[in-house]
Formats: sequence, C-alpha cells, structure tokens
Amino acid sequence: KKVVLAYSGGLDTSVILKWLQTEYGCEVVTFTADLGQGEELGPAREKAERAGVKQIFIEDLRETFVADYVFPMFRANALYEGLYLLGTSIARPLIAKRQIEIAAETGADAVAHGATGKGNDQVRFELSYYALNPEIKVIAPWREWELNSRTKLIAFAEAHQIQIAKDKRGEAPFSVDANLLHISAEGKVLEDPWEEAPEYVYSRSVAPEEAPDEPEYITVEFVKGDAVAVNGEKLSPAALLTKLNELGGKHGIGRLDLVENRFVGMKSRGIYETPGGTVLLAAHRGIEQLTLDRGAAHLKDDLMPRYAELIYNGFWFSPEREMLQALIDRSQEHVEGEVRLKLYKGRADVVGRRSPKSLYSMAHVTFEEDVVYDQRDAEGFIKLNALRLRLAQRRGRN
Ligand code: ARG
Ligand code: SIN
Repeated sequence: KKVVLAYSGGLDTSVILKWLQTEYGCEVVTFTADLGQGEELGPAREKAERAGVKQIFIEDLRETFVADYVFPMFRANALYEGLYLLGTSIARPLIAKRQIEIAAETGADAVAHGATGKGNDQVRFELSYYALNPEIKVIAPWREWELNSRTKLIAFAEAHQIQIAKDKRGEAPFSVDANLLHISAEGKVLEDPWEEAPEYVYSRSVAPEEAPDEPEYITVEFVKGDAVAVNGEKLSPAALLTKLNELGGKHGIGRLDLVENRFVGMKSRGIYETPGGTVLLAAHRGIEQLTLDRGAAHLKDDLMPRYAELIYNGFWFSPEREMLQALIDRSQEHVEGEVRLKLYKGRADVVGRRSPKSLYSMAHVTFEEDVVYDQRDAEGFIKLNALRLRLAQRRGRN
C-alpha cells in the first residue's frame, strides 16, 4: 500500500501526510510542484524527510504549466462566468497528471490531495486521476477525517511533532491558492460578499490608485496565437508570463472580486489577482481582431463559455475539451503579429496592432474615394436581408 500525496509542505498537507501514515498505515510518496506560487520548496523536502518519507518528488513545472496548459487555454480567451481567468482550475490537471505518473514510477496504488469536500478542486483532481488511470485509488482526507476544526488540526499536529509556523497557530484569515497565472483568496474574512476585501488580501498587484501616474507602453508579439516576446525580447512561456505579471502588477492590473458558481452547487466569493493573464488576454484579443476571419472569431467566441466551463468543472482530460481545443488551435494558425498596449492605473488597453497576416484592409475601409468596393452593391445586400422583415411587417409582425 503506497500513496502519492500532492504535498505543499504547509500545515494542512503535513497533517495529511502524518494522518495517511498513521490512519492508513501506508507508505507515503510526496510530490511537490513549483508552478510559480512563489514559495521556497526546500522546506517541503526537509519536512517530508523528517516525517520519514523515502521517495520525495520536487519538480519545477513552470514551463510545462504555461506552455501546455495556460497558453492553450488563452488561445480560447477563456473566462468563466464572464470574468474568472481560471488560474486555479487550469493548474489541477497538471498536478494530477504528475501524481498519476509518479504512482506508476513508484508502484503506488493510490493518490491523495488536500482539497476539501465542498469545493471544485477535489472534482478537478479526481476527474483527472480517473481519466488517466481508471483503477487508481483516491484518498481525500478532508472528506474522511474528524479533524474538522482548526483546534483539532493543531492538536493533531502537536501530538505528532509537526512544526507549525507562528502565523498558522490561529485561524488563517483566508484560504490561498497561487501559481504563475494567479493568486486567489477565499473564505473567512471574505465570506460576506457585501464587504469590500481589505487591501492586505492583495499581494501581486498595487492598488490601481497607488499605481504610477505615467502610463507605460509595452508590446507583445504572437506566433500561432501564443505570446513569444515582450518589448521585442523573446522569452520562454514561463519567463514571459513572469514578465507580464511584473508589468501588470506594477500598474494595478488584474484584480477581480467575484461571486461564482461552484460545480458542487454553492456560490462562493473569491478575490483574484491575475496581472499578467489580464494583459495577455487583452493582447491576444488585440491580435485576433486583425488576423481572425469573422466567422472563425464568432464561432470560437460562441464556444468559449462551454470550453471555460469544462476547465472550471475539471474536465480538462475529456474528449469534448480535446475536440474544442483542436478547433481553437486550428483557428490560431494565422494569429501572428504585434500588439501595443497602454498600462495605466488598473487598465491594459490595446492601442495598436500590426501583422504580416492581417486581414484588415485600409483600401476597403477608407472613408476616402476607393476603387475596390462598389457602394451600390450594398443596396441589394440590404434589400435581400430586409425581405423577410418586410414580409413579416406586412402580415402584422408575428
Ligand atoms: N474558486 C477558484 C476555483 O475554483 C479558486 C479555488 C482555490 N482557491 C483557494 N483559495 N483555495 O478555481
Ligand atoms: C477547497 O475546497 O479545497 C478549495 C476551494 C475549491 O476547491 O473550490
């Protein structure tokens, strides 16, 4: 009996580690991923060693995360419920995939995670596990154990010599999930959706009113729908998103206060900071404006909410997500060129775009006299489109 635990090194997953060893009596393999959450991973190794873990996996997955998960999602301009850039949702399938691979490598028959029984994350982890290994056993301690209060959790930690950071002794003021795409905060002081989130919740962006009084102009370059350079400098996917996070954060861009519908049925209130992602979405839409055919653009926009909902609900590894991805990827073939943006006090506005693949035709759109477009053609176009409207009106409209 061996289990691969998604281990952050924090108090909750440290308790889970001990609990799996004592309650389940199984050998625990820990897996800790660097997804750009901005935390030292050294302590995770030390803590796992101290708990007697023999197989400790610590991996930097930042490039894979951005290249194979974040970028494909941004090709779709995905937003859940119109606003959420899916920062947590898109990270879960990658963590789950590595857990399943590590289980195969180490001969483990089970995997475990630290998500609660009330949220989306349990669904995302477990749908991904089962999609990749239909026989895997899943352990979700939060749904099973009796450590359902902070006091009991702390008591368990103390009884088992688990180190507790001073600031973790009391109630945490809210729950956090972070990676290169976003940082989210939920719960506790944020639970009343009428109360504005206190400024200390934010850690990746300045308040727009504190942002520089001078706008900053940047350029983002795209090839096949993916960003490849910022201000003329070619960057790897993770380096590029890191750079956009710095630029966006400095100008107060990408803050979101949202009440959303969880897959399990309840509404929850979250505070999100997605500075780089917000700039990237604006830039990507900017280059699509120039390079996408109208029919292609409108079709992918029609499908986007479904695609976003699949990712939110945990169906990354599903046939329908892969089908939509193939359609979206196909649309990006000519999405190439450069976008100029103005970053200023919480806003990222596209102010210029150019592309060798542009469909924009100055010759056609000009208000000056032109030779490529015969304005008289528009008369028949309108008349035929009006035909059924006129017939309906004559009959009395319905
Ligand atoms: N509500 C967001 C989602 O479902 C974030 C969930 C994780 N956030 C957290 N603070 N634990 O994607
Ligand atoms: C959790 O419940 O573990 C975090 C929130 C969520 O998954 O929606």
